[in-house]
Amino acid sequence: MTLQRTLSILKPDATRRNLTGKINAVIETAGLRIVAQKRIWLSLAQAQQFYAVHESRAFFNDLCQSMIAGPIVVQVLEGTDAVSKYRETMGATNPENATAGTIRKEFAESIEANSVHGSDSEENAAIEIAFFFSHIEIVG
Ligand code: RTP
Ligand code: MG
Repeated sequence: MTLQRTLSILKPDATRRNLTGKINAVIETAGLRIVAQKRIWLSLAQAQQFYAVHESRAFFNDLCQSMIAGPIVVQVLEGTDAVSKYRETMGATNPENATAGTIRKEFAESIEANSVHGSDSEENAAIEIAFFFSHIEIVG
Protein backbone atom coordinates (compact mmCIF):
# COMPACT_ATOMS: atom_id res chain seq x y z
CA MET A 1 0.00 0.00 0.00
CA THR A 2 1.77 3.08 -1.31
CA LEU A 3 0.57 6.60 -1.96
CA GLN A 4 0.99 7.04 -5.71
CA ARG A 5 0.09 9.41 -8.54
CA THR A 6 -1.04 8.35 -12.00
CA LEU A 7 -1.91 10.16 -15.22
CA SER A 8 -5.49 9.98 -16.48
CA ILE A 9 -6.85 11.23 -19.79
CA LEU A 10 -10.54 11.62 -20.58
CA LYS A 11 -10.40 11.01 -24.33
CA PRO A 12 -12.21 12.96 -27.10
CA ASP A 13 -15.10 10.46 -27.24
CA ALA A 14 -15.78 11.26 -23.58
CA THR A 15 -15.55 15.05 -23.84
CA ARG A 16 -17.72 15.00 -27.01
CA ARG A 17 -20.49 13.26 -25.06
CA ASN A 18 -20.12 15.68 -22.11
CA LEU A 19 -19.07 12.88 -19.72
CA THR A 20 -16.33 14.66 -17.75
CA GLY A 21 -18.41 14.99 -14.59
CA LYS A 22 -19.84 11.48 -14.74
CA ILE A 23 -16.38 9.92 -15.21
CA ASN A 24 -14.90 12.12 -12.46
CA ALA A 25 -17.61 10.87 -10.12
CA VAL A 26 -16.53 7.25 -10.77
CA ILE A 27 -12.89 8.24 -10.17
CA GLU A 28 -13.69 9.96 -6.87
CA THR A 29 -16.01 7.18 -5.71
CA ALA A 30 -13.10 4.75 -6.25
CA GLY A 31 -11.13 6.76 -3.66
CA LEU A 32 -8.83 8.58 -6.08
CA ARG A 33 -8.27 12.34 -5.68
CA ILE A 34 -8.02 14.60 -8.76
CA VAL A 35 -5.00 16.70 -7.71
CA ALA A 36 -4.52 18.37 -11.13
CA GLN A 37 -6.79 18.76 -14.15
CA LYS A 38 -6.90 20.71 -17.41
CA ARG A 39 -8.75 20.59 -20.72
CA ILE A 40 -6.51 20.78 -23.79
CA TRP A 41 -6.52 19.89 -27.49
CA LEU A 42 -3.44 17.98 -28.63
CA SER A 43 -1.67 18.55 -31.94
CA LEU A 44 -0.82 15.47 -34.03
CA ALA A 45 2.86 15.85 -33.13
CA GLN A 46 2.02 15.94 -29.41
CA ALA A 47 -0.20 12.83 -29.68
CA GLN A 48 2.53 10.96 -31.58
CA GLN A 49 5.05 11.93 -28.91
CA PHE A 50 2.78 10.86 -26.06
CA TYR A 51 2.06 7.46 -27.67
CA ALA A 52 5.61 6.91 -28.99
CA VAL A 53 5.74 3.53 -27.16
CA HIS A 54 3.02 2.30 -29.56
CA GLU A 55 4.79 3.64 -32.69
CA SER A 56 5.23 0.18 -34.24
CA ARG A 57 1.67 -1.02 -33.53
CA ALA A 58 -0.87 -1.36 -36.36
CA PHE A 59 -3.31 0.90 -34.49
CA PHE A 60 -0.80 3.76 -33.91
CA ASN A 61 -2.14 6.12 -36.60
CA ASP A 62 -5.80 5.50 -35.72
CA LEU A 63 -4.98 5.98 -32.03
CA CYS A 64 -3.23 9.32 -32.65
CA GLN A 65 -6.07 10.51 -34.91
CA SER A 66 -8.69 9.59 -32.32
CA MET A 67 -6.74 11.48 -29.62
CA ILE A 68 -6.77 14.70 -31.68
CA ALA A 69 -10.41 14.45 -32.77
CA GLY A 70 -11.46 16.83 -29.98
CA PRO A 71 -10.46 18.21 -26.60
CA ILE A 72 -9.18 15.93 -23.86
CA VAL A 73 -9.08 16.36 -20.09
CA VAL A 74 -5.73 15.44 -18.56
CA GLN A 75 -5.60 14.73 -14.85
CA VAL A 76 -3.24 13.64 -12.10
CA LEU A 77 -4.91 11.18 -9.73
CA GLU A 78 -3.55 10.51 -6.25
CA GLY A 79 -4.33 7.69 -3.84
CA THR A 80 -3.24 4.40 -2.36
CA ASP A 81 -1.83 2.24 -5.18
CA ALA A 82 -3.26 4.80 -7.62
CA VAL A 83 -1.70 3.21 -10.74
CA SER A 84 -3.31 -0.22 -10.32
CA LYS A 85 -6.43 1.18 -8.68
CA TYR A 86 -7.14 3.42 -11.67
CA ARG A 87 -6.47 0.57 -14.14
CA GLU A 88 -9.11 -1.46 -12.26
CA THR A 89 -11.49 1.50 -12.22
CA MET A 90 -11.06 2.00 -16.01
CA GLY A 91 -11.68 -1.66 -16.90
CA ALA A 92 -10.33 -3.70 -19.83
CA THR A 93 -9.04 -1.92 -22.97
CA ASN A 94 -11.89 -3.44 -24.99
CA PRO A 95 -15.16 -2.42 -23.29
CA GLU A 96 -16.70 -5.74 -24.36
CA ASN A 97 -14.32 -7.43 -21.91
CA ALA A 98 -14.67 -4.83 -19.15
CA THR A 99 -16.26 -5.62 -15.79
CA ALA A 100 -19.62 -4.03 -14.89
CA GLY A 101 -19.22 -0.73 -13.05
CA THR A 102 -15.89 0.15 -14.68
CA ILE A 103 -15.59 3.39 -16.68
CA ARG A 104 -15.05 1.59 -19.96
CA LYS A 105 -17.97 -0.81 -19.42
CA GLU A 106 -20.30 2.07 -18.55
CA PHE A 107 -19.13 4.68 -21.06
CA ALA A 108 -16.74 3.41 -23.78
CA GLU A 109 -18.00 3.17 -27.35
CA SER A 110 -15.34 0.76 -28.73
CA ILE A 111 -11.75 -0.39 -28.24
CA GLU A 112 -10.57 2.77 -30.02
CA ALA A 113 -13.05 5.17 -28.43
CA ASN A 114 -12.60 3.75 -24.94
CA SER A 115 -13.08 7.02 -23.03
CA VAL A 116 -10.02 6.97 -20.75
CA HIS A 117 -6.29 6.44 -20.56
CA GLY A 118 -4.40 5.50 -17.40
CA SER A 119 -0.67 5.00 -16.85
CA ASP A 120 0.37 1.33 -16.78
CA SER A 121 3.26 1.56 -14.26
CA GLU A 122 4.60 3.92 -11.61
CA GLU A 123 7.60 4.65 -13.84
CA ASN A 124 5.42 5.56 -16.84
CA ALA A 125 3.10 7.56 -14.58
CA ALA A 126 6.00 9.85 -13.62
CA ILE A 127 6.97 10.31 -17.29
CA GLU A 128 3.37 10.93 -18.43
CA ILE A 129 2.61 13.38 -15.59
CA ALA A 130 5.75 15.37 -16.44
CA PHE A 131 4.63 15.43 -20.12
CA PHE A 132 1.50 17.44 -19.23
CA PHE A 133 2.05 19.13 -15.84
CA SER A 134 4.65 21.19 -14.01
CA HIS A 135 4.98 20.58 -10.27
CA ILE A 136 3.24 23.84 -9.34
CA GLU A 137 0.09 22.67 -11.17
CA ILE A 138 -0.27 19.58 -8.96
CA VAL A 139 -1.90 20.33 -5.63
CA GLY A 140 -2.11 17.26 -3.39
P1 RTP B 1 -4.47 3.31 -22.39
O1 RTP B 1 -3.00 3.27 -22.68
O2 RTP B 1 -5.24 4.27 -23.29
O3 RTP B 1 -4.77 3.52 -20.94
O4 RTP B 1 -5.11 1.89 -22.73
P2 RTP B 1 -4.55 0.46 -22.40
O5 RTP B 1 -3.28 0.54 -21.61
O6 RTP B 1 -5.69 -0.31 -21.82
O7 RTP B 1 -4.25 -0.11 -23.85
P3 RTP B 1 -2.90 -0.01 -24.73
O8 RTP B 1 -2.53 -1.40 -25.14
O9 RTP B 1 -1.87 0.82 -24.03
O10 RTP B 1 -3.42 0.74 -26.03
C1 RTP B 1 -3.53 2.15 -26.06
C2 RTP B 1 -4.83 2.53 -26.72
O11 RTP B 1 -4.78 2.16 -28.09
C3 RTP B 1 -6.07 1.79 -28.54
N1 RTP B 1 -6.04 0.43 -29.04
N2 RTP B 1 -6.62 0.10 -30.18
N3 RTP B 1 -7.56 -1.37 -32.41
C4 RTP B 1 -6.86 -1.99 -31.46
O12 RTP B 1 -6.63 -3.19 -31.50
C5 RTP B 1 -6.40 -1.22 -30.32
N4 RTP B 1 -5.70 -1.70 -29.31
C6 RTP B 1 -5.47 -0.64 -28.50
C7 RTP B 1 -7.01 1.89 -27.35
O13 RTP B 1 -7.69 3.14 -27.40
C8 RTP B 1 -6.07 1.83 -26.16
O14 RTP B 1 -6.65 2.47 -25.06
MG1 MG C 1 -1.64 1.74 -22.18
